[in-house]
Amino acid sequence: MSKKKLVVLTGAGISAESGLKTFRDSDGLWEGYNVYEVATPRGFAANPKLVLDFYNMRRRDVANAKPNAAHIGLAELENDFDVQIITQNVDDLHERAGSKQVLHLHGEIFKMRSVKNASVTYEILGDIQVGDMAEDGSQLRPFIVWFEEEVPLLPTAIQIVQTADILVIIGTSLQVYPAAGLVNYAKRAIPKFIIDKKIPYASAINNLTVIEKPAGEGMNVLIEKLNH
Ligand code: APR
Repeated sequence: MSKKKLVVLTGAGISAESGLKTFRDSDGLWEGYNVYEVATPRGFAANPKLVLDFYNMRRRDVANAKPNAAHIGLAELENDFDVQIITQNVDDLHERAGSKQVLHLHGEIFKMRSVKNASVTYEILGDIQVGDMAEDGSQLRPFIVWFEEEVPLLPTAIQIVQTADILVIIGTSLQVYPAAGLVNYAKRAIPKFIIDKKIPYASAINNLTVIEKPAGEGMNVLIEKLNH
């Protein structure tokens, strides 16, 4: 009997207990920066050094962080389900916890690209500086989808959600589109679960079980419910 397809949409909240800051918990500033200064093409054009340094710091934070119980719980669910994770996070904590199918809608902090070409990526563990050029001769930048940029993996993500037998949403405020709109592509009748320490307004998602707990604890409740 093939395993049920469990699709999980995760956001910054699932990495909060690993010590990585979320976006909207800290009064609109992100590590003291205005998000629009450091996560938009305009911000990068205006001050590439500020933006590159911002992501150099984020990259170090992620390298020093560890997967938490929520990431590990999702990886263990692969024993019983065909788990497909669609994350808005750019950290690699799902992969480091052992999850095998992870789609990063907003890019990946340990990858970089040239300013000209979004489809050729290079691994990076250290920093990117102004003047670090790609093979195409243009400046290297983080492989991150900034505000106002298109989300190339969106069609793939939609197709995955449409084929889910169970949908789980963990640690996202569901405020940033198109990611937030993915929940509407799930079949109406399938069971849906949301884990968040403060459940966001989740529009009219039907057949929804709400688990209002921090992600680590909430994962235990979810596993209980999935096994019954
Ligand atoms: N456990 C569970 N949920 C938590 C925890 C926790 N320990 N801490 C915070 N949360 C929840 C918050 O209540 C909120 O609903 O996680 C969510 C975090 O929301 P955001 O900060 O908006 O993060 P996210 O939804 O991932 O942001 C989406 O916005 O800035 C852009 O591209 C960026 O991917 C990001 C996107």
